[in-house]
Amino acid sequence: MIITRLTVYAAALLSAHIAISGQTAEPVAARQSPGQAAPAKANPHAAVTADTKDAECVECHKDVTAKPELHAPAAAESCLECHVAPPAGKPGPMSLAKGATKDNTAPLCTSCHEAVGQRLKEAQVHGPVASGDCISCHDAHGSDFPLFLAASRKDSCLMCHDTVSAALGEKMPHAPAAQGCGICHDPHGSANPAQLRAAGNALCSACHVGSPAPAAAGSAPALFGRDLPEAERKLVSDAGRIALDAMGRRGHPNMEHPVAGVPDPNDKTRMLSCVSCHQPHGAAGKPLLQFGLTSTMELCLKCHK
Ligand code: HEC
Ligand code: HEC
Ligand code: HEC
Ligand code: HEC
Ligand code: HEC
Ligand code: HEC
Ligand code: HEC
Ligand code: HEC
Ligand code: HEC
Repeated sequence: MIITRLTVYAAALLSAHIAISGQTAEPVAARQSPGQAAPAKANPHAAVTADTKDAECVECHKDVTAKPELHAPAAAESCLECHVAPPAGKPGPMSLAKGATKDNTAPLCTSCHEAVGQRLKEAQVHGPVASGDCISCHDAHGSDFPLFLAASRKDSCLMCHDTVSAALGEKMPHAPAAQGCGICHDPHGSANPAQLRAAGNALCSACHVGSPAPAAAGSAPALFGRDLPEAERKLVSDAGRIALDAMGRRGHPNMEHPVAGVPDPNDKTRMLSCVSCHQPHGAAGKPLLQFGLTSTMELCLKCHK
């Protein structure tokens, strides 16, 4: 899909550039008659119309293509793939293509990124993605970071999630969360609550349940991909293993204890699961207990009064 798009796109760019190079793309200002007021103050785009060529935009907006990590259509100076200039003779504000607005760029972005568009139809779509605010995370032109994020992958999540920052600042951060968020959460959306990559205990079990793995355990290669980067493969291999029965329902933290299939006494709307007892991001100590606890005995008393 992407390949086809890219080919079509590259061809379109090529022809666009041939068209431009066939003309003299002289600066807009040079085409103004001497008596005309300088446009920069009143309306910077007084001379910009639908006939303006991409290359002219960059003459005034050099900063747009000056970032180290550039979005392909911005790097190619295809400004008018996304920006729509007013028709000739009717100077007015710029608008965005595909009916997008500054607050909801999704119609524009997903016109080229169909796979992300599919994510918008998932059962659980991440808050800012659901409102179409793609540019709250990705700069439309480019930035200092891969994928034109405002910061590293992890820090760009923490900008909005203070509670998770706080958990990571605890004495014992959970190793995979200290490394990043994407191994467990899809940034855009998924079929599961909290945009998790798997439901129930499958995600935790993929790293923590020893072999033979119960049927309910997620398989690490299936969940995380077969060609994981070394750092993430190490997370899977370094995780301490617990033993569960063949159904993945009982056997931890002691012999017959359930980990699934019964309601959670602290929240009857949910079933008991790994996160009934463990904090997924970080806690005051090992083994990452919920409720700010470090004592196993106190944990038992939370449910067994
Ligand atoms: C003659 C110089 C000049 C040219 C040519 C020019 N701009 Fe601008 N543009 C400006 C100035 C000045 C501003 C206002 C200051 C700012 O925000 O940079 C502006 C603002 C903008 C804005 C933000 C405000 C708005 O109206 O939405 C966008 C988007 C924009 N320009 C896009 C373009 C595109 C796309 C082109 C090419 C079709 C273009 N500009 C060509 C000078 C120019
Ligand atoms: C992939 C789509 C896309 C492309 C390609 C693109 N822009 Fe933008 N641009 C946007 C969006 C979305 C915004 C944010 C909406 C706004 O501020 O109006 C924006 C904002 C701007 C702004 C105002 C705010 C800012 O960041 O300075 C300027 C100026 C601008 N673009 C110029 C350009 C120029 C010049 C090019 C070509 C080199 C270009 N854009 C290419 C989507 C794009
Ligand atoms: C005119 C088509 C077009 C539009 C519109 C467009 N993109 Fe892109 N985008 C591309 C192309 C081409 C690439 C480079 C090929 C690729 O990696 O898919 C790209 C790459 C990306 C990447 C990096 C992907 C990677 O794996 O490296 C991100 C992130 C992205 N775009 C986000 C956006 C966002 C957000 C918007 C809306 C503001 C948007 N795009 C609008 C064509 C477009
Ligand atoms: C909450 C921040 C956030 C928002 C909002 C967001 N993204 Fe992303 N996006 C990411 C992160 C993080 C990645 C990197 C995923 C990875 O590789 O771990 C990404 C990856 C991408 C990619 C690369 C290919 C892929 O699927 O991984 C594209 C394209 C993209 N986003 C487009 C969009 C579009 C379009 C929107 C709006 C509908 C959007 N994003 C909204 C954070 C965000
Ligand atoms: C621009 C702000 C913003 C950024 C950046 C952001 N989020 Fe969010 N996130 C939200 C909002 C808003 C919600 C919805 C809040 C709610 O429903 O309580 C949300 C909800 C979530 C939820 C679901 C909470 C729940 O209880 O269902 C998860 C998980 C999440 N974000 C993870 C991430 C990850 C991972 C990243 C980085 C890829 C990220 N967020 C970046 C704003 C952001
Ligand atoms: C090991 C897997 C894992 C990793 C890595 C991870 N999370 Fe989570 N996260 C979860 C699980 C599981 C839940 C659901 C907890 C629940 O249902 O009680 C969750 C819930 C959340 C929530 C909603 C509840 C809350 O605590 O606010 C947000 C927001 C969130 N994660 C953000 C992040 C961010 C940001 C990162 C990266 C720093 C991250 N997560 C890394 C597994 C993970
Ligand atoms: C009913 C509460 C509870 C549930 C549910 C639970 N745990 Fe635990 N877990 C504990 C306690 C208590 C310990 C400490 C055991 C000890 O010190 O002997 C522990 C220890 C661990 C350890 C450390 C290794 C070890 O054996 O000391 C890992 C890893 C772990 N749990 C993962 C999980 C996973 C994965 C799940 C879901 C399949 C899960 N836990 C469900 C309470 C729970
Ligand atoms: C990508 C692999 C991976 C996933 C997924 C994962 N963990 Fe971990 N976890 C680790 C690693 C690595 C450590 C640190 C090494 C260790 O002590 O086991 C760790 C540590 C722990 C510990 C502390 C172990 C101890 O010895 O005290 C607990 C408890 C735990 N994880 C529970 C969970 C729960 C609950 C989930 C699901 C929300 C989960 N893990 C998901 C890799 C993972
Ligand atoms: C998050 C809540 C929760 C925590 C914490 C918890 N349990 Fe349980 N425990 C349960 C539930 C739910 C059952 C199943 C009750 C039922 O089937 O009616 C259970 C069952 C048991 C049983 C009976 C198991 C059997 O069928 O033989 C024992 C014994 C037990 N727990 C001991 C403990 C101990 C010891 C701790 C502390 C290490 C602990 N529990 C922590 C929720 C919890």
